[in-house]
Amino acid sequence: MNLKQQIKIAFGYFFIVALLGVFMRMFHVVDITFNYKNILHTHSHIALLGWVYTALTTLIYKLFLSEKGKDKTFNKLFWSTQISIIGMMFSFPFTGYAFFSIVFSTLFLLNSYGFLWLFLKHTSLEQKQLYSYKLIRAALWLMVFSSLGPWALGIIMNTLGSSSSWYRNAIYFFLHFQYNGWFIVALLGLFFVVLEKNKNSLVLLEIGLFKNKGVFILEKKFKLFYHLFLVGVFLTFFHSVLWMKPSILFNTLALVGSILQFAAYIVLLESIKHFLKRLKGILTKIENQLLKTVKLLFILKLIFQIVGSFPVIANLVSMNKDLIIAYLHWVFLGIVSISIFLFLSVFKFFSISKTTYKLYFLAFLLTEILLFGNGIFSWSGDLYYLVLFLASAVFLVAIGGIIQSQIKK
Ligand code: HEM
Repeated sequence: MNLKQQIKIAFGYFFIVALLGVFMRMFHVVDITFNYKNILHTHSHIALLGWVYTALTTLIYKLFLSEKGKDKTFNKLFWSTQISIIGMMFSFPFTGYAFFSIVFSTLFLLNSYGFLWLFLKHTSLEQKQLYSYKLIRAALWLMVFSSLGPWALGIIMNTLGSSSSWYRNAIYFFLHFQYNGWFIVALLGLFFVVLEKNKNSLVLLEIGLFKNKGVFILEKKFKLFYHLFLVGVFLTFFHSVLWMKPSILFNTLALVGSILQFAAYIVLLESIKHFLKRLKGILTKIENQLLKTVKLLFILKLIFQIVGSFPVIANLVSMNKDLIIAYLHWVFLGIVSISIFLFLSVFKFFSISKTTYKLYFLAFLLTEILLFGNGIFSWSGDLYYLVLFLASAVFLVAIGGIIQSQIKK
């Protein structure tokens, strides 16, 4: 199995995730007798662990490990991971959280630890000096840290029960350290790989402007960015417990974390602003478009985090499922998935056509407007659900288009 085929598998999961998402939206349009919650479990597990995990680990393997002669070990790990994902795909819809789905989720966790081990063990001393390495390493440790959530869930279910607030918090813990920790930090790491790989051409272009021996970001600046951002990852977890209306201290911690991350992003953009300009000439037109979009969606996410720390907004959001779903998918379908398209294109796994991307972005924009709109103005009604269902179905066409163009190639 070569890495390009693995990416095709990841896209296969993405299509299934969209299919399940559209199916869930159909529940509000026609009468369906199927357990909604089980579909939701399947959708979220295949999205995080099938689509995003497979795409990110394949990219990390290609960039850090593919020349280490460890293909056999990686292949075994890859297939063992796929068995766990496919197992979840066929057990969650019919049983929800039960024996088989728990066995397959546990197998997944063990495989993901194996990937971290492979990464730590087989990267060279030279690679370990890279800033990209430091970010990816932190990301993978955050992934391991997030798994404390599912382990705790087992204990909580057998003691306090699934209606306790600890149960909900354990799920939110997992979700937070997955997407705000592992995903976002890994994507930042991949962005640093792009900068490091193009460092020489970028520095040549910048001769006269930079006298720091080809280092594209000063160590002092990188460390500041890195520490601010990572402390922010831990502190912003407190957003996830605001639904319990705890003491104002929790809001304050979440706010501090959000401000730290905002500051980290500004430090990063400031430190590489000349390079970003030059990078424009190196990326293709569509890659520039993807990067611009992700930068905008990301800064807005950081602003949402700050605003969402205040009790008035936090209370409004925690009582409003549409706002939560809109925000989560802003990150998943916007920041995370579009960044993955970007890196897959930059590292020559695939190229997305302008038309397909436009269609994808249209689906994203429409569904976000509808979900945020319903969250704020309570639009819900038969017509709202029908339009939301139809807009979501556009994802199927767009992701189907991406898969078709890859198969053709
Ligand atoms: C492709 C189009 C997608 C559609 C149409 C869609 C739709 C939905 C819907 C309808 C829900 C259920 C909301 C509820 O009743 O609580 C949901 C939840 C969820 N989705 Fe998606 N989704 C899509 C893509 C994704 C992707 C790409 C990811 C992650 C990478 C993702 C992650 C999640 C998660 C984690 C939840 C659970 C949230 C919770 O537990 O509160 N979705 N999605």
